[in-house]
Amino acid sequence: MRYSKIVGLGHHVPKTVITNQYLSSLMETNDEWITERTGIKERRWIDPQKDTVANMAAKATRMALQRANLTEKDIEFIVFATITPDYFFPGSGVLLQRELGLESIGALDIRNACSGFIYALSVADQFIKSGMYKTILVVGAEIQSTAIDVSTRGRNTAVIFADGAGAAILQPSDKPGVLSTHLHSDGRFAEELYVRDPGSSRKREERQPEQILDTTHFKVVMNGNQVFKHAVVRFMEVINEALAANQMKKEDINLLVPHQANLRISQYIQEKLALRDDQVYNNIMRYGNTTAASIPIAMSEAWAEGKMKENDVICLAAFGSGFTWASALIRW
Ligand code: UT7
Repeated sequence: MRYSKIVGLGHHVPKTVITNQYLSSLMETNDEWITERTGIKERRWIDPQKDTVANMAAKATRMALQRANLTEKDIEFIVFATITPDYFFPGSGVLLQRELGLESIGALDIRNACSGFIYALSVADQFIKSGMYKTILVVGAEIQSTAIDVSTRGRNTAVIFADGAGAAILQPSDKPGVLSTHLHSDGRFAEELYVRDPGSSRKREERQPEQILDTTHFKVVMNGNQVFKHAVVRFMEVINEALAANQMKKEDINLLVPHQANLRISQYIQEKLALRDDQVYNNIMRYGNTTAASIPIAMSEAWAEGKMKENDVICLAAFGSGFTWASALIRW
């Protein structure tokens, strides 16, 4: 049986640290509220003069390649998860291909928000298992700070979402590997967390030429309570689904790397699964919620800290806009 295996992990976060105190100078919020409700103490925002989704992804990729002892030329396919591509189209996958100096290899963009990295991992896993490719780059990268409403009106999302990139390199292996991936969605809740424009859904009469060009129409809408309530249920469901599919119990998990949505959500899952603090990796305190980038950044840091050892069972899980939710179980 052929499996896919993660042979290298990398990440990149922008230099600029944005503290809760700094945000409270821009809008009516405070460190106590943000810490208590989300666990976030600081996050990173890009330098718009220098950083792009694709060049941050390239930095994360180079770290992953170096750790895997590979070079750019070894990559045969790119799967890029982002909801904040550099352009409306084409996707950032092709821009990353250009950044890495690669010619003509395929590049696929995935737009499944917080679940995007696990969706991307699942696609890569199938391509490796089928024998189609031998080395696939899976990336999650986001620049969300440029769409943040820094007035008090936008505070329920502005304090949460942030920027960063993470990368994983997958190759075939005769030992596991990625054990299974589980992907779900429920479009009935699409508008509970969404950005409407620049979408094609507006009626013709609403589309004044100045609106089409006005980037202030890029507005994140989130019904935080509703998202939270669904998240805690779906996280548990999809983790249990992954365990059942592999005849495992929650005691078999060595490390859970949840999407870094809100520390309260991670703590809820930890409690339900009766996991110790050292069995759940959280870095939302330092980076905020980086959507598709959060899991690969967290995995890259956890690996560097020696928290993912050979033979360990690693569980990834995510929930977010769509709604979409997903999990993966990996034998390290
Ligand atoms: O990445 C995956 C997708 N996203 C998530 O998983 C996020 C899930 N949801 C959440 O994390 C939480 O719902 C939030 C952290 C977004 C909000 O926490 P909450 O406990 O659900 O707060 P709330 O929206 O019910 O608001 C409570 C109060 C409101 O004031 P009133 O109406 O009670 O006077 C808000 O206006 O807190 C106010 N508020 C704030 N106050 C200070 C909202 N945002 C802020 C803020 N600073 N940044």
